[in-house]
Amino acid sequence: MEKAVLRKLTTFCIVCGLACIALLGMTVIRDGQREWKDYQQEYKEMLLKKIKRDANPTFYDRVAASEPEIRQVVIGEFKEIERCTTCHLGIDDPLFAGEKQPYTTHPNPELMKHHPVEKFGCTICHGGQGQATTFYGSSHSTIPNWPITLVSKGLMQSRCGYCHKDYEAIGADRLVKGRELYKEMHCAGCHKIDDQGGGVGPDLSAFADKDPGGFDYNYVEGGHSKQAWVIEHFKDPKKVSPGSPMSRPALSDEQIEYLATYVLSLTRREFTRHYTAKAKADFVPPKLDDVVPEPDLSPAAGDEEDAGR
Ligand code: HEC
Ligand code: HEC
Ligand code: HEC
Ligand code: HEC
Repeated sequence: MEKAVLRKLTTFCIVCGLACIALLGMTVIRDGQREWKDYQQEYKEMLLKKIKRDANPTFYDRVAASEPEIRQVVIGEFKEIERCTTCHLGIDDPLFAGEKQPYTTHPNPELMKHHPVEKFGCTICHGGQGQATTFYGSSHSTIPNWPITLVSKGLMQSRCGYCHKDYEAIGADRLVKGRELYKEMHCAGCHKIDDQGGGVGPDLSAFADKDPGGFDYNYVEGGHSKQAWVIEHFKDPKKVSPGSPMSRPALSDEQIEYLATYVLSLTRREFTRHYTAKAKADFVPPKLDDVVPEPDLSPAAGDEEDAGR
């Protein structure tokens, strides 16, 4: 009897041991297959073709002998660790202009000069998950139930507005147009920005700082992200926020992007002086509520279908 128990125990231990070894093996294999290692391998091969050994033997040999490694930038100002450059390896290297993603040089080298990678990183302008080392995890597209994503192309200027309040000075035309629309559409009749405007709707002064997790995505079709929420909310406020008194603005998709760019730029975040873009001495922030009649809260024509929701 005792022997039988012992034998069972021994078999159990052996099975457990084998399972552990198998798991360990799988981890090692999976680690070796990390996608970023493949990108770095391909990048290395491309780089070796571009540089000549004769020109700089030390550099060439160092590249040839290099092993894949996670590259990261630590940005104290934003409390961020960013690993985007683990894959976007040629982002500030002119040798990689015109190469395919993720190796290509930044499409706007002038911008990179003013905002060097070591100081600014990427996510302050692009959003996304800085610490991730996978394509999926860095949120190139929306992840279900994870409302952080890369800023979409049409909304990139929202991030410029974090630090640059004089939009004209940096040619941020979408911000300029968004702010104009905000005035023309009488949004200030119901919303406050920096103490200007009415109080029917939420204060928008820090709209960009609002936690993306705090929005209701039940009626949003374009993915769980704040930018999708904002765009769809502007297209049809009552659909995304049932019961909202906001009526559907008569705007083109492009104008909706301008407006979204503008509201997504509104932050109360403060930056230290090293990250604060100086505005010209004669710059005066424009008034936002200079064209504001009382908002009409009765259901607008065309909104009847929403009555009673
Ligand atoms: C695991 C590798 C990897 C990491 C890490 C990574 N990227 Fe990418 N990224 C790619 C690849 C590959 C593409 C090209 C995708 C395509 O063309 O379909 C890409 C494309 C992009 C694009 C072009 C637009 C788009 O969405 O296709 C941007 C912008 C971008 N990445 C920004 C970032 C930022 C910001 C980070 C850090 C938060 C980051 N990437 C981290 C691999 C990576
Ligand atoms: C100062 C803001 C800023 C910073 C910092 C920045 N970018 Fe960009 N990036 C932009 C803007 C603006 C564009 C242009 C978007 C467009 O095509 O209209 C852009 C475009 C890109 C594109 C091409 C997108 C496409 O769809 O083709 C990639 C890839 C990219 N950036 C990656 C990065 C990576 C990686 C970093 C960090 C190493 C970075 N950027 C840092 C502002 C920035
Ligand atoms: C984190 C803050 C921050 C963000 C975000 C940011 N910038 Fe800047 N930018 C700066 C700082 C700081 C300078 C240096 C300004 C100075 O020297 O006074 C600068 C300089 C510039 C300059 C050089 C001309 C000037 O006014 O000094 C341009 C152009 C510019 N930024 C455009 C942009 C654009 C376009 C975006 C969005 C894609 C952007 N910036 C996003 C902080 C930022
Ligand atoms: C009749 C009053 C009214 C007008 C006019 C109005 N809004 Fe609203 N807005 C609201 C109310 C109330 C809410 C909250 C309910 C909701 O999410 O729709 C809201 C929500 C919002 C939100 C989401 C805010 C948050 O913190 O969740 C944004 C952004 C917004 N409005 C922008 C605008 C813009 C831009 C305009 C001009 C085109 C505008 N609103 C016009 C009343 C109004």
